[in-house]
Amino acid sequence: MTQPFARPVRHRRLRQSGWVRDLVREHQLSAHDFIYPIFLTQGTNIKEPVDSLPGINRLSINKAVEIAKHSADLGIPALALFPATPKHKRNETGSHALDEDNLMCRALDALKHAVPEIGLMADVALDPYTSHGQDGLVKNGQIVNDETVEILVKQSILQARAGADMIAPSDMMDGRIAQIRAGLDDHGFEQTLLISYAAKYASAYYAPFREAIGSGGVLTGDKKTYQMDPANSDEALKEIQTDLDEGADMIIVKPGQPYLDIVANAKASLNVPLVAYQVSGEYAMIKAAAQKGWIDEGAAMMEALIGFKRAGCSAVITYFALDAARLLNG
Ligand code: PBG
Repeated sequence: MTQPFARPVRHRRLRQSGWVRDLVREHQLSAHDFIYPIFLTQGTNIKEPVDSLPGINRLSINKAVEIAKHSADLGIPALALFPATPKHKRNETGSHALDEDNLMCRALDALKHAVPEIGLMADVALDPYTSHGQDGLVKNGQIVNDETVEILVKQSILQARAGADMIAPSDMMDGRIAQIRAGLDDHGFEQTLLISYAAKYASAYYAPFREAIGSGGVLTGDKKTYQMDPANSDEALKEIQTDLDEGADMIIVKPGQPYLDIVANAKASLNVPLVAYQVSGEYAMIKAAAQKGWIDEGAAMMEALIGFKRAGCSAVITYFALDAARLLNG
């Protein structure tokens, strides 16, 4: 009970001017917090805008090298690579994933040689290569787990050999982290990091990404038998724990902003670097509202990004990486 003579609490004393706000700020962002996703396409000197992701392009390898140099200069520690695959290179089993001459492997090789100081994160899943757009093999209408994992192990070894520093399985098959870790170790890639999309939800926010890599039109059905139900949170901790037990070095929660509770819960109970993926739909919403003049793009971007740090993330995979790094670097 407040005493009649008690002085009012003055929370606002700590907010009265910029210098004191600077002093008491609890979380900071820097260019080191970002992983920048890059969409790859065939050809040379290609920079092809993705309609639903303003400011983001599909890049040929030589253009990706330029962006990688620029990213490194800005202090961005790592890139996440995603290949756009034309329909004629896709088939039922996604066999092009295991072609050591595919776009992903050639890009990893070129980038590792041209910009050795930047970390390269390679997506492991079959959706860029399947004619049905699913992340795994389909048999009798089911996404089969263990046979898919066998292919993912091979895909991981191939990508590590091509130059990937971090293998990032985004397929949500069970048991793949243990198998991939064993496969990498057996082939001399003990130092290759495993960053697992442990809690990946079946989300509507991936739509612009699917357009970017060319699987939007081809996807048959949905991904709800392997990606998580947005209504679940205990299950996310279970998924994360399993991947840690199987040898994951870092954990990704995806999408980001709608799932900050998952990040905060994991942060509270586990000691592991957590990374959120601010996915394509999250970026597109801010961009679209800003283009309509309904929101201040820079301010909304920074507010979303600091939210990831506040929730407990070590890093954020974000399409805003270049813009935010430029702003932070002054
Ligand atoms: C699939 C994959 C997806 C994203 C990254 N890897 C989408 C999906 O599951 O269909 C989405 C990323 C984004 O929306 O930015 N392996």
